[in-house]
Amino acid sequence: MKRITINASTEYDVLVGPDLLKNIGTVLSEAGFAPGRMALITDSTVDELYGEQVCAELKNDGYEVYRCVFPAGEGYKTWTTLGYILDYLAAAEIRRSDFILGLGGGVVGDLAGFAASVYLRGVPLVLAPTTLLAAVDSSVGGKNGVNLGTGKNMAGSFYQPRLVVCDTTVLSRLNAAQFAEGVAEIIKCGMIADEKLLARIVDFRRSRATGFVPVISACLRIKGDLVARDEFDRGDRHLLNFGHTPAHAIERCSGYRISHGQAVAMGMSIMTRAAIAKGLADSECALALHTALLAHGMAQRCPYGAAELAALARMDKKRQGDIVRLVIPEIPGRCRVYPIEVGELYSWLAAGLGEA
Ligand code: GLY
Repeated sequence: MKRITINASTEYDVLVGPDLLKNIGTVLSEAGFAPGRMALITDSTVDELYGEQVCAELKNDGYEVYRCVFPAGEGYKTWTTLGYILDYLAAAEIRRSDFILGLGGGVVGDLAGFAASVYLRGVPLVLAPTTLLAAVDSSVGGKNGVNLGTGKNMAGSFYQPRLVVCDTTVLSRLNAAQFAEGVAEIIKCGMIADEKLLARIVDFRRSRATGFVPVISACLRIKGDLVARDEFDRGDRHLLNFGHTPAHAIERCSGYRISHGQAVAMGMSIMTRAAIAKGLADSECALALHTALLAHGMAQRCPYGAAELAALARMDKKRQGDIVRLVIPEIPGRCRVYPIEVGELYSWLAAGLGEA
């Protein structure tokens, strides 16, 4: 098992290794979560797969488990679900001295994190990601939230977990589509900070369970370093947004039928082609990115035009006044934040889509 320490305003460990959920009671008590009352928050899909097993293991080790299950899907990442969870915690008389375990993918982590940050003005949070995307990205760094009608994650807070438990046995059971979702974020990490990871990802396969620990650890080190430098996303942490400005617009254009990972793959291709067209990136960036995406069968062609995407990307929640901070590659393994006027978005997207 690998232990990676995240040095945010509160320091915490991410444990990465096989069979951690099978032994979750021992893992938690060894990490200082003494047996007692706790809430397990999960969604209906994960509950069906792991709910019984995790509850039994926890109860075996003396935990008094209150299990809160909500329906699975991005459509349930709402105020209504958050309210349901908060009412559940209150009815179960969860106290500040107890803790919440969020078991699931990004939606579960975001809702459990938001609930933990506001319930009783903060109760300790442990996250156990069950998707590759949550393992390499969303479970670390303290961002949480719910979607509003105007966009994704429009309401939320920064609230760091006390521990993250990343079970690679669970991750090696993901189907091809779920695996590809996480791979897109791993390729992103390679593009922004680690050329070797970018090369290594070409041979990363879900059937080879031993490959998970080094790849996830590499991503967590990159993310941990950015979070330590810029926990509240005012500067360098923005690099993690590579490909995401067009990706969020693509997801919305498709009515969320194009998944986040596929949209990020398209978004990274758009930003890379645009940066090369504008003479700001080495052409090697396109080759390295496309080789990695192709190895995992990820679509790079975006079905929408620059005008459609620009209309939605203008509303980016990270926009500051008239400035949108793009993330562009310079060489494989290095990106930079590149502020532009919002009116320039169309020309960037048109260059990235080959319309210019
Ligand atoms: N997922 C991007 C971030 O944590 O900043």
